[in-house]
Amino acid sequence: TTPPEAEHFDRTIERDQRIEPRDWMPEDYRRTLVRQVAQHAHSEIIGMQPEGNWITRAPSLRRKAILLAKVQDEAGHGLYLYSAAETLGADRADLTARLISGRQKYSSIFNYPALTFADVGVIGWLVDGAAICNQVPLCRSSYGPYARAMIRICKEESFHQRQGYELLMTMMRGTDAQRRMVQDATNRWWWPSLMMFGPPDHDSPNTARSMAWKIKRHTNDELRQRFVDMTVPQAEALGVTLPDPELRWNPERGHYDFGEIDWAEFKQVVSGNGPCNEQRITHRRRAHEEGAWVREAAAAHAAKQAARTRE
Ligand code: 3HC
Repeated sequence: TTPPEAEHFDRTIERDQRIEPRDWMPEDYRRTLVRQVAQHAHSEIIGMQPEGNWITRAPSLRRKAILLAKVQDEAGHGLYLYSAAETLGADRADLTARLISGRQKYSSIFNYPALTFADVGVIGWLVDGAAICNQVPLCRSSYGPYARAMIRICKEESFHQRQGYELLMTMMRGTDAQRRMVQDATNRWWWPSLMMFGPPDHDSPNTARSMAWKIKRHTNDELRQRFVDMTVPQAEALGVTLPDPELRWNPERGHYDFGEIDWAEFKQVVSGNGPCNEQRITHRRRAHEEGAWVREAAAAHAAKQAARTRE
């Protein structure tokens, strides 16, 4: 027979209600949530690097201010998500150690280089656009703290996507050289953006269980298709072509058909052999080491405060 607390857990999931930190939950539910939430947080933090490189080289004060705000938002998203992982009993220092040692993942998309300022616009348009497709359903995830973190993050992600698209619109109204930069960046980021949604459903070990527990509300392929359908008209409005000769509207399906994704490239990047994996992790490790004195000072200050209140 099912123990009463497991009954309560199952009924809560069935009713689309939220599991909260103090509720009983199957160990595997907790484990897969720590896995997904921690890797989501790592993605936000590593995601600061490609764009961070352009803050000092932004072409105007306005672009610099917008980019600075976006990169700071990503740091905040990481902190929300590490806090959500802590409600599941994870330890933030341990999660950082797992990221730096390669025992936990972060999104493959951030292992590609941001070569020109048009990349900053294309990252906002495509990468944050894909993140929105993936994150809006997560606002209805069955774990309360994760779903609530997503609501705030999605609002800020929409600003990220709009600023990127507006930047590209400006460049497309500029010189031929600027239009070529936008097309070149689109060519480089399109396929890696489709890979952000994860492997195909038939090759996704976590999807079935995450859907049953309503952690995930759609499968990888469903969200990928939603992103393609949403983005093709935006590319047309922008005046760029997407680098997929097989991309075409399929009236029977009511969706765009698109070409085959290079899953060998995806596996290479996820296993650490992408263009920038080494650079991203080295940068993160150095930032962690150089930040040790701040953590020690904060801990010493907190200990003094605690001692003072005990006096
Ligand atoms: N990059 C790296 N690893 C990936 C990946 C990707 N794009 N897609 C899948 N994987 C990994 C999975 O983590 C899993 O490995 P693990 O078991 O060691 O964790 C393995 O490949 C098999 O994939 P599954 O489909 O079985 O795994 P999931 O069910 O977890 O689905 C996911 C993958 C769709 C990324 C899901 O974890 C998810 O929705 N995560 C939350 C969203 C997220 O992490 N987004 C990152 C985008 S970047 C971002 O949001 C920053 C924004 O500001 C731009």
